[in-house]
Amino acid sequence: MELLDNLKWRYAAKAMNGKVVSEDKIDNIIEAISLSPTSSGLQPFEVLIIKNQAIKEQIKPIAWHQSVITDCSHLLVFAAWDTYTEDRINKMFDLTNTIRGFKNEGWEKYRQMLLDMYPQKDPEENFIHTSKQAYIAFANAVTAAAFEKVDSTPIEGFDPNALDKILGLREKGLRSCVLLPIGYRDEENDWLAKLPKVRKSREDLITVIH
Ligand SMILES: Cc1cc2nc3c(=O)[nH]c(=O)nc-3n(C[C@H](O)[C@H](O)[C@H](O)COP(=O)(O)O)c2cc1C
Repeated sequence: MELLDNLKWRYAAKAMNGKVVSEDKIDNIIEAISLSPTSSGLQPFEVLIIKNQAIKEQIKPIAWHQSVITDCSHLLVFAAWDTYTEDRINKMFDLTNTIRGFKNEGWEKYRQMLLDMYPQKDPEENFIHTSKQAYIAFANAVTAAAFEKVDSTPIEGFDPNALDKILGLREKGLRSCVLLPIGYRDEENDWLAKLPKVRKSREDLITVIH
């Protein structure tokens, strides 16, 4: 199965060689991000794509000095909404109505239910929810990169507050949650490149309830 072959090929690269990934491959990864499902279809996150080497250099020290931050081709930053607001919810529902060309009573009731529920909640609680949605897209980006035979490294090892400052995210109502450097593995210098994958047994992972 092509999907499984690609998932077996991919790994969290620890060293990359600086080779540039073509924009058509990046575009396919972006499309996979965009097509990802999200709760109520709100897509409560944005993705920043950093190509600028000086900014990557600035980020490296606040990301445990991980070399892939600077040796990748494109550094993707997944930044979730800091909370849900009426405006943000309305925008997505209005967009749905515009694209589908009609207003639906059930859908409008659902909009009102979300408006009555989300904006009143503690922003921290909302951020946990928005960041979960960002992680769904992030996982699809990892898979899409593998399909493009492009390497990627999921990264949570960074200081989100420091990154938010560098990128001015809080002013935009965003908070960084996870990073994905995309590039090509440096097989010679990557201690992980040739080691077998480690996964727990099916018995420990799966419970079938008959
Ligand atoms: C959310 C998330 C955060 C991670 N953060 C880091 C990280 O900061 N640095 C790193 O080298 N690997 C990081 N990893 C990679 C994991 O260690 C790796 O995916 C796991 O050991 C499984 O190995 P594989 O991806 O090579 O199959 C992260 C993975 C995920 C999913």
